[in-house]
Amino acid sequence: MTTRPDPRPARPHFSSGPCAKRPGWETSVLAGALTGRSHRAAPAKARIQEVSDRSRAILGIPEDWKLGLVPASDTGAVEMVLWSMLGARGVDLLAWESFGAGWVNDVLNQLDLPDCRVLEADYGELPDLGSVDFARDVVFTWNGTTSGVRVPNGDWIAADREGLTICDATSAAFAMELAWDKLDVVTWSWQKVLGGEAAHGMLALSPRAVERLESYTPPWPMPKIFRLTQGGRLNAGIFEGSTINTPSMLCVEAAVDGLRWAESVGGLAGLVARAEANLAVVTRWVEGSAWAAFLATDPTTRSCTSICLRIVDDWATSREDAEVAATIKAAAKRLDQEGIAFDIASYRDAPTGLRLWGGATVETSDLEALLPWLDWAWAEAKSAAS
Ligand SMILES: Cc1ncc(COP(=O)(O)O)c(C=O)c1O
Repeated sequence: MTTRPDPRPARPHFSSGPCAKRPGWETSVLAGALTGRSHRAAPAKARIQEVSDRSRAILGIPEDWKLGLVPASDTGAVEMVLWSMLGARGVDLLAWESFGAGWVNDVLNQLDLPDCRVLEADYGELPDLGSVDFARDVVFTWNGTTSGVRVPNGDWIAADREGLTICDATSAAFAMELAWDKLDVVTWSWQKVLGGEAAHGMLALSPRAVERLESYTPPWPMPKIFRLTQGGRLNAGIFEGSTINTPSMLCVEAAVDGLRWAESVGGLAGLVARAEANLAVVTRWVEGSAWAAFLATDPTTRSCTSICLRIVDDWATSREDAEVAATIKAAAKRLDQEGIAFDIASYRDAPTGLRLWGGATVETSDLEALLPWLDWAWAEAKSAAS
């Protein structure tokens, strides 16, 4: 019998997106939002630009890169890049979980490009990074949010590549060091590591990515919402505070607040340290657990943001997958009802288990308080099932 723990997480927010607000966040931080104003008015454009300027400084984005706000969150940013840039040369598509698989599906089945190679791996693994061909364009996700597997670094990417590297970094940016010298396109959304609002995406382009946009025109029509060029030249305004369409100034304000908070905790180094401390706490607990293990098989690929766990309990070995899945779901539901942890069941397409967000806005003390509750909820759910 596992006794009911006593201390509770101060905040039960462990969702992998939208993620926990930064500590101390309240709606009053939005009081200065430029609502009811044209987003093309000078102060609104300046506020939008502030998001890019602060993001660039914190992330260490090279000066010769472009950074702008685009519609439709990370999905919008990735899609506009796939549709605007691919087709100029062959493409290597990497996927090891649901989001990467989504980009593969779009390139294969929507763009219908003739020369694509798909490098895939199961949940928990990475594809063979050594077999990527950098003479081709390469599309990959830095951190697979639904499997908790990240690339360990950028060493596997050729410095002298001919193709472009297109990186969906939405659950990595602000929690992991990104190898900017090895990347050409980087995207993310506000709702992840800094706990901002959804709806808008960030798009960062290297000079080589800009060159592709200005030298290659895909044969298919391009909706306005995806159009990054005008008359064959980069639409520079998008990267200077003039968005393609109307953004939410409330969301912009929330993004600026998150960035200011990021600076207050030591910028990127502070953010990475917070996320790594969260992973370390879960790692210690997993090492002593008789029922939970990391989904990521290689410790160097374990995500410090979307920390994914699978069930390795002896109890489960003699049971059908469906029963184990129902039991862990019941445990997660119980923790939700108790107000201990929201949204920690594994992603719908991922193997049965739990997913705990460890990004910078989650306090380590809250994860520490949560872990005994996981043991308790799992034991309770098992005894209800057997
Ligand atoms: C790796 C990855 N890519 C893309 C997305 C989609 O992000 P959004 O809904 O902000 O467009 C997510 C969301 O969780 C993600 O984790």
